[in-house]
Amino acid sequence: KILILDFGSQVTQLIARRVRDSRVYSEIHPYDVDPSFIEKFVKEQGCKGIILSGGPNSVTEGDTPRAPDIVFNLGVPVLGICYGMQTMAAQLGGKVATAESLGKSREFGYAEVRARGHTKLLENIQDFTTPEGHGMLKVWMSHGDSVTELPVGFKLMASTGSCPIAGMADETRHFYAVQFHPEVTHTILGTAIIERFVHQICACGTDWVMGDYIAEAVESIRKQVGSDEVILGLSGGVDSSVAAALIHRAIGQQLTCVFVDHGLLRLNEGKMVMEMFAKNLGVKVIHVDATAQFMGELAGVSDPEAKRKIIGKEFVEVFQVESGKIKNAKWLAQGTIYPDVIESAGKGKKGAHTIKSHHNVGGLPDDMKLSLLEPLRELFKDEVRALGVELGLPPEMVYRHPFPGPGLGVRILGEVKKDFADLLRRADAIFIEELRSTIDETSGKSWYDLTSQAFAVFLPVKSVGVMGDGRTYEYVVALRAVQTQDFMTAHWAHLPHDLLGRVSNRIINEVRGINRVVYDISGKPPATIEWE
Ligand code: XMP
Repeated sequence: KILILDFGSQVTQLIARRVRDSRVYSEIHPYDVDPSFIEKFVKEQGCKGIILSGGPNSVTEGDTPRAPDIVFNLGVPVLGICYGMQTMAAQLGGKVATAESLGKSREFGYAEVRARGHTKLLENIQDFTTPEGHGMLKVWMSHGDSVTELPVGFKLMASTGSCPIAGMADETRHFYAVQFHPEVTHTILGTAIIERFVHQICACGTDWVMGDYIAEAVESIRKQVGSDEVILGLSGGVDSSVAAALIHRAIGQQLTCVFVDHGLLRLNEGKMVMEMFAKNLGVKVIHVDATAQFMGELAGVSDPEAKRKIIGKEFVEVFQVESGKIKNAKWLAQGTIYPDVIESAGKGKKGAHTIKSHHNVGGLPDDMKLSLLEPLRELFKDEVRALGVELGLPPEMVYRHPFPGPGLGVRILGEVKKDFADLLRRADAIFIEELRSTIDETSGKSWYDLTSQAFAVFLPVKSVGVMGDGRTYEYVVALRAVQTQDFMTAHWAHLPHDLLGRVSNRIINEVRGINRVVYDISGKPPATIEWE
């Protein structure tokens, strides 16, 4: 296993992520953790290497963080990243200078680093070779200070034009350090570098599997909540579902889930959630059908923001009433995952976090006095999915497209009516069914898997059609399918015309009330993914 000492970088969790990607177990601890813990971790608990993270401070200032000396005295390999490299240099006798004192500006973003000196860490890891034959790495840099003088015993491992000492190594003691960030995906071969460190340099075996994660998480949830009762707002989405399954595995009937059906869910969603959790897993779930209440509040409201606010507010109210009935509840469990944590750290409590908080039943009044239980806080979406499968959730559920908290409320343009929701649900189900069953020959994947999010939108406009011998005057449904990595930008999906044709035919034939289907060919930006 690997010990990661955290110096306060925003991306320390990413180091743990890369180590997990290499199938090695790691633990993150603050840089000022008790040295006796580090000693025990190495000597008794099988820790084979230490990584020092980046951080926001400057080692040129006196009272900034340092690694405990024991880190360099235990005989295990050490990898310093960014601030971790600077503190390693400073502590072992090298020199570090600020950008200002060197007459430079902070370096932030893409850089090309030349690998030098044939070190075990970077040997044969390169993105390209220059005409002069130098091996080069495409990396991500973010620093003000730089190492200006190597500590005794170290050699130069990497350099760039603006950062002559971008990497250093003392191969006798197995100390390595890089100024760039191998843990972020912008460093193309970052994973290979971390993998090289943990496997070849630290000689870690592969000891991390999702099953172990479950065992550990179960134990830590039990320790955290003891015999207290926990409540969780189940939305049917991946994150809250996986959190529910994990917490249920840990504390069984001490967990009560509240599943609020606002009448704006997908077709059969309520039934599916109840079957999966209450029936198959034996989780205690309170199913609240609040359709009438939501529809009542939404009647006559057509402004998108007003609709969102009403849905959010009602949701909290219903959830509060129901969870208030669970008298001994001390904990509120949420399916917060690591990207939510970074987003909220980066942006205060604004932006994407606000979106998520509704989804995760956040924003509950303080007087509920519940402590937060967030067992997925360290995991990334794909890890959460793998965990869900491991916990026995059906893969089709775990790999579903995301669904917004306000549900069909933002997919029925203008005023929301139950009849519209019923039509839309059926049209949407047909679209999804066809996407799932149509396989793209080149990739062998279904069009559902080839798109990131796909759904139908109800347009409250009527157009004229003809069916059989009769004239129809009915509503329009728009189909939306996008491909995206991060949902911040998106392309509309080039779905095959015969697939679109089939979906259109089926919707018009099977959903009485819809006589026209259109396909949305707008990218994001300028359009958003949802229509409201
Ligand atoms: P937009 O429409 O902003 O959507 O391009 C980007 C992604 O966010 C989802 N989305 C939401 N998710 N609560 C959520 O949980 C919301 O209020 C909400 N609004 C949009 C949307 O489905 C897409 O995946």
